[in-house]
Amino acid sequence: MLINPVKGTHDIIGEDAAKFKEISFVCSLLAYQNCFEEIYVPIMEHTSLYSRSVGQSSDIVRKEMYSFEDKGGRSITLRPEFTAGIIRSVVSNKLYATRDLPLKLFYSGPCFRYDRPQAGRYRQFYQFGVECIGNTSYYLDCEVINLGYRMLNHLKINNIIVEINFLGDGDSKKKYIEELRNYFSSKIENMCEDCKQRLLINPLRILDCKNENDQKIIDGAPKMSDFLSDEEQIYFKNIISTLEELDVKYCVSNRLVRGLDYYSGVVWEYHVVSSENEDIGALGGGGHYKNLVKEIGGPDLEGVGLSLGLERLLHTINTNKIFPSIRDGADFTFLPMNEDLCECIYPLCEKLKDLNMRVDMIYHPKSIGSMIKTAIKRGSKFVIIVGEEEYEKEQVVIKNLATQEQTTVFIEDLDSVMTNLLYENYMSVKKES
Ligand code: HAM
Repeated sequence: MLINPVKGTHDIIGEDAAKFKEISFVCSLLAYQNCFEEIYVPIMEHTSLYSRSVGQSSDIVRKEMYSFEDKGGRSITLRPEFTAGIIRSVVSNKLYATRDLPLKLFYSGPCFRYDRPQAGRYRQFYQFGVECIGNTSYYLDCEVINLGYRMLNHLKINNIIVEINFLGDGDSKKKYIEELRNYFSSKIENMCEDCKQRLLINPLRILDCKNENDQKIIDGAPKMSDFLSDEEQIYFKNIISTLEELDVKYCVSNRLVRGLDYYSGVVWEYHVVSSENEDIGALGGGGHYKNLVKEIGGPDLEGVGLSLGLERLLHTINTNKIFPSIRDGADFTFLPMNEDLCECIYPLCEKLKDLNMRVDMIYHPKSIGSMIKTAIKRGSKFVIIVGEEEYEKEQVVIKNLATQEQTTVFIEDLDSVMTNLLYENYMSVKKES
């Protein structure tokens, strides 16, 4: 019986897998160069962690969590995002007390949301992200916003705009929510069922609604910017002028509140500007959180972070044909001309795998032409032809599949010749690019 993949999950195979690895590598390298340290956290946490941090009013907690009771009767949830788990780890391990602040951490791995599957939206998807905890300067907010922007630029996704907004905290947030409640109360009858719920729990979440009819009503709603304190306005202005100096392309979006309850301060999303790209949603997003560490039981420390959606990056790279086709083929493929030669050469082939190169072998000898075709299909750079006559003289023939050049080599010199050939090949490819 055929077993289908779980709805909303997908396999990442072949060239896509190679590109996915390259995307993670570029992001990790940039995070590392910016003095972020890698952290691994569990894929499951107590459900209460997410309801307390991501928030009871968020769509994630209300509708999208993969939660289950374990055999001990505890409610456990597969992480729908990383930030809450990272902060939980910082608090559990008292990292804030044993290391210099700010803590600068980066992470990647799968997340799970029971979302409606569509282009760029999965039920299991991968995030790469950074969190900076113990944040006392708007420069750190700018560093994180710019880091995500630079990651996208390094991946050659250049046409990016940062949608940005500032969410007030304390009094300004309270006043704004009150104004929103007043505004929407008279209009809620004509809005969707979700918005009716949102009005009761947190009117701010109505601004996230994607329903077209509701959008028109939302357009007339009061704006957060009119409720910010003087201090908050100055902080936001400082961020904006710093981003201008850094040449980050941005637009202020008054409606951007982001779907997670823990934000206060700057919030932003990275979007591709191009009419050709289908709308797959933001490539990533982040924000400043003033109270999250305290709410999870830690000290009064602020933080800022961002996460990128790796499938959405891959999708953008593929639709815009940004990366050349990456074929992770062998460097050298042994082609023994008959079964006996196969037996003779196999131990050497295994030994050569310990050199810093990729070595493969065809185990069912056929005609030389058909074996070369197979090696080309597998993406090999060179083939090593093991013929009877040559082998008797303790020799083999190495052929460069790109240039067709071939050389006869003594088997005892094989390792050094292979190393040299690979180095020359690498240098010539580098020169061309
Ligand atoms: P988020 O906006 O919920 O933020 O997710 C970040 C990114 O993950 C999105 O911009 C998108 O690229 C990707 N993503 C989200 N849901 C899906 C899905 N169903 N399928 C595919 N990709 C998806 C957060 O998760 C926050 N933790 C970001 C953050 C870090 N804020 C502070 N620090």
